[in-house]
Amino acid sequence: MELELERLAAIVGSSDDAIISASLDGVVLSWNPAAERLYGYAEAEILGTPISITVPPDREDEMQQNLETIKLGRAVDHLETERIRKDGSRVPVSITMSPLKESGRVVGISAIETDITQRKQVERELARSFTLLRKAAEDRQELLRRLVSAEVEERARISGQLHDDTIQKMTAAGLRLEKLRASVEPSQASELGQVLGVVSDAVTRLRRLMVELHPRTLDQDGLAAAIREHFAIANEGGWMHSLQDDLSREPDPVMRQLAYRIALEALTNAHKHARADQIEVALRDEGTGFTVTIWDDGIGISPEQISESPLGHIGLASMRERAETANGSFTIGPAPEGGTVVEFSLPYEAQAERFPELEGTTPPVTAPGSRRPPRGLRP
Ligand SMILES: Nc1ncnc2c1ncn2[C@@H]1O[C@H](COP(=O)(O)OP(=O)(O)OP(=O)(O)O)[C@@H](O)[C@H]1O
Ligand SMILES: [Mg+2]
Repeated sequence: MELELERLAAIVGSSDDAIISASLDGVVLSWNPAAERLYGYAEAEILGTPISITVPPDREDEMQQNLETIKLGRAVDHLETERIRKDGSRVPVSITMSPLKESGRVVGISAIETDITQRKQVERELARSFTLLRKAAEDRQELLRRLVSAEVEERARISGQLHDDTIQKMTAAGLRLEKLRASVEPSQASELGQVLGVVSDAVTRLRRLMVELHPRTLDQDGLAAAIREHFAIANEGGWMHSLQDDLSREPDPVMRQLAYRIALEALTNAHKHARADQIEVALRDEGTGFTVTIWDDGIGISPEQISESPLGHIGLASMRERAETANGSFTIGPAPEGGTVVEFSLPYEAQAERFPELEGTTPPVTAPGSRRPPRGLRP
């Protein structure tokens, strides 16, 4: 028994945590070396003193409540609070209090008290880092918004100029040529006719460019409508276009623009490079985000073509960059059934990244590929 007590005393003496006991009316009965280090009172000077000497005035009520709990024979676990040292400084501590019992009756309190200054500091630093991170993410989203709107404005300006200036002048020139053709000799008339053909072809192309630069449909009727409009004006290759639209709502203007631009680049690539007959676009709902898949049944694409675009060819890089800047994802590769498949995911809203650690929520963007796309990439 004595040996057992000595062993216990050794444990208490060498503990890094302050271990204190007090009577039920709060008088200190024991005080280990760690308590001396934590509070600055030597054992000899504090024995017999009220424990309340270490309790800050604004924590007295809390202490009273805990005493009541102990008197009822219950423990108080990991209470995070503050205490006062001998030098008057405050220290954050975690305290576990248990009743001391003698033949079933509560006769006192034992407490284990741990200095949590460092942990609190780490918590503060973490909170500060999260605030900075969140701010950086918000700044990034703001930048993205501005970039997209600057791009949209610039495109609208060029489109307006094409409409008000270039196209008007070309149309007027065409009319003049038409008149001229009526008054010249037949040999010249046929030559003029050829020039007229070139002019009207150019006007058609300029009108198409105008729509591509600034598709009003995109703002007015949404992403699916704008893609359908693009199918209609880019039809000279005789492709069979189709669109499956399963979006639950319209992406916000920034995300709509991004999605439209990425999809257009993928469609242009399919038209230019794929030698395809069929081109399918699918818009899939992913909860807080959406996925766009563009598939063609053409010649396919090799890993080398994906990893090293020829100098000055920036289509693939710009698609990836746009998607990733918006916290989305982008992939391109050969499709299992032949041809090429491009797939990208974006959030519906251009919101700043969330910090689930701080907010207890899950991130907004569904991980790409978490659901099987209608036409998966070849593994
Ligand atoms: N759908 C596709 N089918 C077949 N090959 C493709 C397809 N998409 C892209 N490629 C190949 O990948 C290459 C890189 O595409 P990328 O869009 O980066 O450049 P680009 O279209 O040649 O030029 P840019 O887009 O800058 O006008 C293309 O040159 C082409 O060889
Ligand atoms: Mg391209």
